[in-house]
Amino acid sequence: MKRIFQLTMILCAMMITSSCTQSGKNKAMVTKETYGTHKGKEVFLFTLTNKEGNVLKLTNFGARITWIEVPDRSGKKENVTFGFDTFEGMLRGDPYFGAVVGRYANRIAKGKFTLDGVEYTLPLNNGPNSLHGGPGGWHSSVWDAEIVERTEFPTVKFTWHSPDMEEGYPGNMHVETVYTWSDKNEIVIDYKCTTDKKTVLNITNHAYFNLHGAGNGDILDHELVIKAARFVAVDSTLIPTGELREVAGTPFDFTTPAKVGARIGEDYDQIKHGKGYDHTFVLDNKEEVDCSLYEPVSGRLMEVISDQPGVQFYSGNFLNGSRIGYGGKPFIHRSGLCLETGHFPDSPNHPDFPTTILNPGETFTSKTVYRFSVK
Ligand code: GAL
Repeated sequence: MKRIFQLTMILCAMMITSSCTQSGKNKAMVTKETYGTHKGKEVFLFTLTNKEGNVLKLTNFGARITWIEVPDRSGKKENVTFGFDTFEGMLRGDPYFGAVVGRYANRIAKGKFTLDGVEYTLPLNNGPNSLHGGPGGWHSSVWDAEIVERTEFPTVKFTWHSPDMEEGYPGNMHVETVYTWSDKNEIVIDYKCTTDKKTVLNITNHAYFNLHGAGNGDILDHELVIKAARFVAVDSTLIPTGELREVAGTPFDFTTPAKVGARIGEDYDQIKHGKGYDHTFVLDNKEEVDCSLYEPVSGRLMEVISDQPGVQFYSGNFLNGSRIGYGGKPFIHRSGLCLETGHFPDSPNHPDFPTTILNPGETFTSKTVYRFSVK
C-alpha cells in the first residue's frame, strides 16, 4: 500500500497539469510528463487535449508532433501521424518524423552557399548534398519547453538557441515554435526566428500523415489538392534545376482532387527523379486553404494553410518497412506522406527564388495550420 502511495506521488511529481478553459464538453488541458533524457537534457512528452476531447502529443526532442488523435466519420478516434511507442524507439527511428526541421529544410546543393562573398560549407548527409540542416539539425536538438498559460486553447512553446556556425550556418539564431491545438482540431504552428549575423533559413514541420490511421496501409488512395500552378523541377539528386514547371498536363496537377497513387507510376522525368512525389509546389496563395488531403473510407479531411511560398509534397518513397512504429507496426513504402510548408530547396544558390536570407534586426515569423475534420 505504502509502495503504491509512493509511486503515485512520484508520478504526480512527474506530471504538471495546466488547465485552460473549462466550459464546453471537456476540460481543455495540457499535461507534461518525463519522456527520457538526451544530450544531458530532460525530454518531455506533452499531451494537449482540446474541448472536443481530441489529443495532440508533442515532445521537445526536435520540437516534434508525435500523435494526432482525431475522429473518423463515425466518431472513431485514431492517431494519424507517425511516431514510436517509446523515446528510445524515437531515437533509433527515422530522424525527422514530426520534427521541426532547420536551419535549412530540404537540400542545399553540394553543401555550399555564399553570403556577401563568404563561402559556407555544410555537412553532406544526402549523397552530394546537405539535407534538413545537417545530421545535427534542429530535429535532433532538445529544445526548451514551456506550457503557455492563460490561452484560449492548449498551447506549448519550444525555444532553441542555435549557436553561430551550428552545422555550418552563420549567426546565433533564436528560434521559437509555438503549437496551439484549437477546439476545431487545428494544429496552429507559429515560428519566430532572429539572428545576430546575416544567414539563411528555411523552417518546416516534417510530420507524416496517414488518414486511415498511422500503420494502416498506404496513402495511395488519399485524394490530394494542392493549389499550385507550378512546381520546382529537380535533377536526379533532387536539387532544383531552376525551372518552375507548369503542372498542367503532368502527374503534378493537383489543382483539382486526384488520388496520390493515380499517376505516381507514370513514365515522367520528375516522377523518376523523386521515385514518386518529392517536390516543392509553388503555392498560388490565392485562397485560404493551400492543400487538402481526403481519405474516403474514414472520411477524414486534413487542410493545410500556409503563408509560405511553397509546400514540399513527399509521398514517403524512402519508407521501406524497416522502421517500426506505434503498436509494432512497420512504416511500409508510402504508408505516410508529408506536406512541408516553406521555401524552395537550395534557394541560397538560386537568386531568382524567393529569398531565404535573414538579416540581424529582422524577425522571421510564419504560420502553418493543419486542420482536421470529416466529410
Ligand atoms: C523530405 C525530403 C525527402 C526525404 C525525406 C526524409 O523532406 O523531401 O527527399 O529526404 O524528407 O526521409
